[in-house]
Amino acid sequence: MPSLRQLFLSHVAQTSELPLMLEIDKASGMYIYDKDGKRYLDMNSGISVSSLGHCHPNVVSAVQDQVARHMHTMVYGEHIQQAQVKYATLLSQQLDDSLSKVYYVMTGTECVEVAMKLGRRYTGRYEIIAAKNAYHGSTFGAEALRSDHDFSSSFAPGVPGIRHIEFNDEKELSRITEKTACVIVEPVQAESGVNPPKSDYLKALRAKCTAVGALLVLDEIQTGFGRTGYLFAHQKYGIVPDVLLIAKSMGGGMPIGAIVSSGEIMSKITKNPALGHITTFGGHPVSCAAAHAMLDTLLETGLVDLVESKGSYLQTRLEQHPIISEIRRSGLMMGVEVTKRKYLKHVVNRCIENGLIIDYFLFNNKSFRLAPPLIITEEEMKEACAILEEAFDYAEQRYKK
Ligand SMILES: Cc1ncc(COP(=O)(O)O)c(C=O)c1O
Repeated sequence: MPSLRQLFLSHVAQTSELPLMLEIDKASGMYIYDKDGKRYLDMNSGISVSSLGHCHPNVVSAVQDQVARHMHTMVYGEHIQQAQVKYATLLSQQLDDSLSKVYYVMTGTECVEVAMKLGRRYTGRYEIIAAKNAYHGSTFGAEALRSDHDFSSSFAPGVPGIRHIEFNDEKELSRITEKTACVIVEPVQAESGVNPPKSDYLKALRAKCTAVGALLVLDEIQTGFGRTGYLFAHQKYGIVPDVLLIAKSMGGGMPIGAIVSSGEIMSKITKNPALGHITTFGGHPVSCAAAHAMLDTLLETGLVDLVESKGSYLQTRLEQHPIISEIRRSGLMMGVEVTKRKYLKHVVNRCIENGLIIDYFLFNNKSFRLAPPLIITEEEMKEACAILEEAFDYAEQRYKK
């Protein structure tokens, strides 16, 4: 009888030749357990998904209640489903009045596809501007926003009309013109190794988009739902986007994403042509119920208010180690850079060996990612730091001789 591991390798497609191969048994709160009962402290949250930790009881109970009532009935926008309406209402109450319409999808990348379509349809323009070293998803439109041409050329030809600007460089804003349909950026760049915006960069970007009539689309797929210490990062940095994209932690562990905008902008997928974007499972009622429980819990517990002090504790402690050259951070979203690139692999592997999950970035080969669930306690932060510091020592020792 083949093992689960063998069947995994035979029948489940992988996206790299070195899958982590952690055989998951269960997960709860800050911890993931493998089939042998080994416990892993999750400092990655499945890349900023499990912000309330794993299997939060409020989310589990909302999912169970909804499953017992009804699951899928009809594609988005046709039936009135309580779970969708309740969530859209609660979410829009947390946002600027202009962000009042929610269009549900399944994933982050689908949000980006809709935003690109809205940008072109609303302005009648063609050009879309993205920032270098951004990651917005893996479908064709979102992938076209990548500046890494070596990667995208493997799937060429891609979507035309995309231009790139350097994130955080106000001089480059002059490239946004009256030809630009929309500008899509993350308020804090994630996959470049955590790159928060410089002082008034986002305000200058907002002003430029307004001046030329281009839509400002903010991808808050990683930064949303408290990750940066505010419910949404645009609230932290004092701007309002025309189009807001959310996913990842939105569903408390269930798959869901959404595009949030004004009624006027959103009407561009309603008529001429009608059905401008459709999705069979977008806004699945079970995911909406989970998302409601997630947001409600976030608001009720005041967890977001504690994010900055937790992030600061981790940063202050970890940056004291001699192999750490820099920590870039916004709330509990952290890029920890090591002094020598060769340390990185040893730090990551050693942590996993010792029961701590951390991860690499897509576009930064000198830093690792820390994005723990926001529920992390002081005790758990101490546990994480002790394992990390041991791994830093271990990596340093390996290259001493
Ligand atoms: C900033 C950002 N945008 C979009 C995406 C794509 O989201 P998904 O993987 O749900 O399609 C990701 C995923 O990592 C992301 O980090």
